[in-house]
Order: sequence, then structure tokens, then C-alpha cells
Amino acid sequence: MKTKSLNKNLHKASQAKKDEFYTQLVDIENELKHYKDQFRGKVVYCNCDDPFESNFFKYFAANFNALGLKKLITTSYVKSPIVGGQLPLFEVEGLKPSGKEPFKIEIKEVPDTDGDGAVNIDDVEYLLKHDRNTATSLRGNGDFRSKECIELLKEANIVVTNPPFSLFREYVAQLVEYEKKFLIIGNTNSLTYKEIFKLIKEDKFRTGYTNFNVGMFFVVPDDWEHFHHIDKSGKKIARVSTSC
Ligand SMILES: C[S@@+](CC[C@H](N)C(=O)[O-])C[C@H]1O[C@@H](n2cnc3c(N)ncnc32)[C@H](O)[C@@H]1O
Repeated sequence: MKTKSLNKNLHKASQAKKDEFYTQLVDIENELKHYKDQFRGKVVYCNCDDPFESNFFKYFAANFNALGLKKLITTSYVKSPIVGGQLPLFEVEGLKPSGKEPFKIEIKEVPDTDGDGAVNIDDVEYLLKHDRNTATSLRGNGDFRSKECIELLKEANIVVTNPPFSLFREYVAQLVEYEKKFLIIGNTNSLTYKEIFKLIKEDKFRTGYTNFNVGMFFVVPDDWEHFHHIDKSGKKIARVSTSC
């Protein structure tokens, strides 16, 4: 019995580990540039993204006005090992009380607060530092299936993220159930899942512009031993040959 539960825990841990691949900004920019007109007036939700560490948040916040977004919502998940600071895009003192607490950020406008004539990531940083209403703790654990996150999902028009690989079927099923448009990173193997293939046949799901024959490179946690290389900023990068 003890061995069984140990195995179960190890399996869970290894599943969780498989989910810790963090998307690089350049890959987001290269895919998202093809959909610019489709975001005007839309509510975008990134529901597997620590707003302080996710390049999806960074991309949409920095391009909020250029894309003409109505709202950007981003929520993090309590179990993510990087929640609380491995890949910080912003250092916002005092905003993350316990470091590990799951967070939500909602942005409805990004004013040009630094007055440089352009709206960019510096203005987002200023907004986060000075408008406490944009960042709040979640009541629950930030699971995309939680009631709290489903309420946010209902509000959204388009969901954009790199979801946990281990929950891909469930993740897509929820998007389809709530009739959401989505742009997500997945695995080429998932194209053959019967649930996914059905959606492809119904033209509700298609592959994007990123070439899926070459794989993708992701940032991985600092304690990973198997990785492809270390980038200029010292982050470990792993290659996933089947990501698209
Ligand atoms: C493949 S990583 C990608 C992270 C981020 N979206 C990005 O692209 O950089 C998937 C993320 O989903 C989180 N996650 C795992 N299970 C989740 C769940 N049930 N609900 C919400 N997020 C979850 C993981 O902790 C991990 O941070």
C-alpha cells in the first residue's frame, strides 16, 4: 500500500514536471502576428500563466493598445514550481504577499503613464506598481477547472496560452464546452487523439503558422538536469521536438 501511494506521488510529480515548459516571447510574437486584427475589442484570458512570469501576459499587456484589446485576464496556478520568482518579468515589490499565492491580473487599459508617447511594458509595470486593483490574490488555487477560473473563462472571447501537456484533452474539452476561440500550444501527437481529430474534421481546431516539423524551445526550471542549452540570460532551455 505504501509503495503504491509512493508510486502514485512520484507519477504525479513527474506529470507536473512535464508541464513546466515556459514559452519564449519570440515564439509568441511569431505566431500571434498572424492574428492581429482578430483581437480588436476582445477579452483575452491566459489561464495557465503566472502574470509575473508569463510571456503571454507580457505580450498582451505590452500590445494591449496596439491590438485594441477590451480586457486582459491572466491567472496563475498554485502548484507551479516557478510561481514566486524563477523567471520574473517584473519585480513588483509588495504585490505578491506570500510568493506562492496564486494571482489574477485584470487589465482594462494601459495608459501612457511614463509620457514617452508609446505604450509599452514600462507602462504596464507602472500600472501594476501603482494600481493595486489590477493584481489580486485568487480565492482558490488557480486551477483552470475551478469555479473561479471558469467564471473568468465565461467572460473571455479568446484563450491564449501554453496549457499543461498532461491535461491537454481536458483543457481543450473545457474550451469547446464554453465555446471559446483559442490559440494554444500543443503536441503534434495530440492531433491524433480521437477527441481532437473530431474537432479538426469539424473545422473547430487547426494547426497554426509555427512549423511543427522542427519542434520548439522552452525555458525550463533552474533545477532541471536535462536541457538543450543555457541562453544569454542564464535560463535553461529545452527542446520539445513535438510542440506546435
Ligand atoms: C507548459 S506550462 C506553460 C506555462 C505558461 N503558460 C507559458 O507558456 O510559459 C503549463 C503551466 O500550467 C500550469 N498548470 C498545471 N496544471 C494546471 C491547472 N490544473 N490549472 C492551471 N494551470 C495549471 C503549470 O504549473 C505550468 O505553469
